[in-house]
Amino acid sequence: MSDKPAKPVLLTGASGALGRVLTRSLSADGWTLRLTDIAPFPDQVPTGASFTAADLNDGVTIARLAEGCGAIVHLGGVSVERPFEEVLGPNIRGLFHIYEAARREKARVIFASSNHSIGFHERSETIGADTQFLPDGFYGLSKAYGELMGQLYWYKHGVESVFVRIGSCFPEPVDARMLATWLSYPDLSRLVARCILAERVGCSVIWGASDNQRMTWWKDDARGRVGWQPLDSADPFAGQLAGKVSGNPVAERYMGGGFCALGYSRDAPAPQQLSQPGG
Ligand SMILES: NC(=O)c1ccc[n+]([C@@H]2O[C@H](COP(=O)([O-])OP(=O)(O)OC[C@H]3O[C@@H](n4cnc5c(N)ncnc54)[C@H](O)[C@@H]3O)[C@@H](O)[C@H]2O)c1
Repeated sequence: MSDKPAKPVLLTGASGALGRVLTRSLSADGWTLRLTDIAPFPDQVPTGASFTAADLNDGVTIARLAEGCGAIVHLGGVSVERPFEEVLGPNIRGLFHIYEAARREKARVIFASSNHSIGFHERSETIGADTQFLPDGFYGLSKAYGELMGQLYWYKHGVESVFVRIGSCFPEPVDARMLATWLSYPDLSRLVARCILAERVGCSVIWGASDNQRMTWWKDDARGRVGWQPLDSADPFAGQLAGKVSGNPVAERYMGGGFCALGYSRDAPAPQQLSQPGG
């Protein structure tokens, strides 16, 4: 990567796992970053970056931080399944503050959405980016809501968005499911950079997974529009991880894995023909 955006980039959730990865990779390319998080930034703030502690619930501060920015990479918020009341503030109200700031600044939003927005699709399916949302918890529901908010701001105000439905972004895959869902840190960094640098993105969805042979679940997204292809793959880990399954039939049946099984209280799995809209 050698291109740089003309305006600063606001990065929320900067102190989190992926925020720190992107801070390192984008500032190494000479980008001007405004970092924010409710938690202190744990690393040295790189040259060309500044850090401001802020709660996503504080719309005034979020608006001020976004002033003059050309893009907002929105990673901040609750990133695992939690009770509804805990998700509500950071992931729903906070997201509204991000989109209001983007509208005022005419900034593009790169939203860290999640596979958990479609988690109750079965692993035997292959779904396109325009598939029905099937969230697997309050966290996944907040990501589906976030994508819908992005659509509202695109159709009503012309705010561009890329919704990156991240699979599992970790240093290495650690179980059999991640042989399909793993996204390497370098692939994430290149993807986010392309989403910001691409001339036009409109309102797009991209599946955030590396070039994994077992990723037969997801197809037809906007990667061509931004000019991204994953370069890494979970395949070399297949030998050691293929047998590492959860043993939970709900987790193994659905794309969302263990999140689907959390608090699951059906007596029997949902029959597919009764799960379609109108069914
Ligand atoms: N890591 C993955 O595999 C993965 C998969 C799917 C989606 N995502 C999404 O990507 C994003 C980054 O993931 P991560 O793994 O780095 O998560 P993370 O939990 O490490 O980082 C999230 C950050 O958000 C901050 N935050 C929480 N509440 C806040 C608030 N009220 N105000 C301001 N900041 C707040 C936290 O302090 C934390 O630093 C998240 O939105 C997550 O949902 C990640």
